[in-house]
Amino acid sequence: MDAMVSGVHITEITPDKISASQTAADSRMAGDAPSSIQRTAGASPIRPRRLRRTPALRAMVRETQLAADDLIYPLFVVHGQGAERPIASMPGVAQLSAERAARAAAAAADLSIPAVLLFGIPAAKDPVGLENFAAGGIVQQAIAAIKRAVPEMMVITDVCLCEYTDHGHCGLLNQGASGQGNGARPHAHLEEGYMLNDETLAVLGEVALSHARAGADIVAPSGMIDGMVAALRATLDAHDFSHIPIMSYAVKYASGFYGPFRDAAEGAPKFGDRKTHQMDPANAREALREAALDVQEGADFLMVKPALAYLDVIHRLRTAYPEAPLAAYNVSGEYAMIKAAAAQGWLDERSVTLETLTGIKRAGADLIISYHALDVARWLRA
Ligand code: PBG
Repeated sequence: MDAMVSGVHITEITPDKISASQTAADSRMAGDAPSSIQRTAGASPIRPRRLRRTPALRAMVRETQLAADDLIYPLFVVHGQGAERPIASMPGVAQLSAERAARAAAAAADLSIPAVLLFGIPAAKDPVGLENFAAGGIVQQAIAAIKRAVPEMMVITDVCLCEYTDHGHCGLLNQGASGQGNGARPHAHLEEGYMLNDETLAVLGEVALSHARAGADIVAPSGMIDGMVAALRATLDAHDFSHIPIMSYAVKYASGFYGPFRDAAEGAPKFGDRKTHQMDPANAREALREAALDVQEGADFLMVKPALAYLDVIHRLRTAYPEAPLAAYNVSGEYAMIKAAAAQGWLDERSVTLETLTGIKRAGADLIISYHALDVARWLRA
C-alpha cells in the first residue's frame, strides 16, 4: 500500500474520467503500479474541515470551554488525627481527617477550584443521625478547619441522613411496634421501614442550620425528600442565615452509579433501596416537575445526578431554566469506570476524563462536581 501511495500525482475526477479511473483501479487490483490518486471536481464548497486545520483555528471555534472554576471537589471527612484512608473502589480518593481535608482544600484553591463539597462519616450512627447536627460533628469540624486554612474556599455541605443513620437511609423510617400508642410506628397506613417525608424535613432543617452555624457557605440537600428546599429555606431564614444559598439535588436518580460512594461514605442502606424517593432512571419529563418545585421553593442552584447517563436531562433543565445555575454530579461510579479502564491500559485517562467533563458542560451544566477535579484543573493548566 505504501508504495502505491507515495509519489502519486493528483488529478481531477470528472464524470467522463470515472470509467477511465475505474479501469485504472481494476488494473491496479490486477497488480499494475498506480499512476495517481484522483480528486473529485465539484465537491461541496462548504468544508467544515477548514476550521479544524490548526490548533489555533480549532481554539477559535471551540464552543465549550472547561475551566477550573467550573469544578467542585468532593471530600469525605472522618474523625481522627492525620487520617487518610484510601477508598479501594475510588483510586485517588481517601477519607480524610479535618486538617487533611483542609490541606486538600488548599490544593484545590491553588488550582483555582472555587468549591469543595463535604460528606461526613460520623463516629457513631443511630436511627436519627444525631452527629449530623451536633456542633462538634465531623463536618462541622471540617468546615471550620477548611475556612481557617483557606477562607476564600466555598464550602458546600451535603445535607442528608444516610451517612449518619444506623439503617443507612436518607431519612427517618416508619418503624415501631404495630398498633396505637407509645412506640407505635408513626404512620399506620404506610409500610414498616418506609422513609418518612415530613418528619425527615425537620431533621434536615437542623442539619442545614448546624452547617451554616459552623461556617458552611452553601448547603446541598441530597435526599430527594419532597419539600426539602422549602424546609431548609424556612429554617435558615428564621435563624438569620437568609444569605446562605441552597444547591438542591433537584433531579437525583435511583442509580447504580453510586456504588463506590457508598463505600467511601459508609452510607449504604442496610435493607431495601432508595427507589421510593430517588427518581426512576426512565423518566425525563418528571425531572422538569422536580426542578419546577425546587425553583418555586427557592433553590439557588439546581443539580442533576448522575451526569453521564443523564445528559439529556441536563440539557432539558438548561433549556427550561436558562437563568438557574445548574450543577451536574459526575458521580463515583462514573469516576471508577474511567479509573479502572485506565489502570488496565484500556483508556487514556486524561483524554477520556476531559472529554467526559466537556460533554457534561456541553450538555448544559455550569458546574461539575467531580472526583477528577484536581487532575482536571492540573491538565487544564498544562
Ligand atoms: C446521599 C448521597 C449519595 C451521593 C451523594 N449524596 C448517595 C446516595 O444517594 O445513595 C452519591 C455520590 C456519588 O456516587 O459520587 N447523601
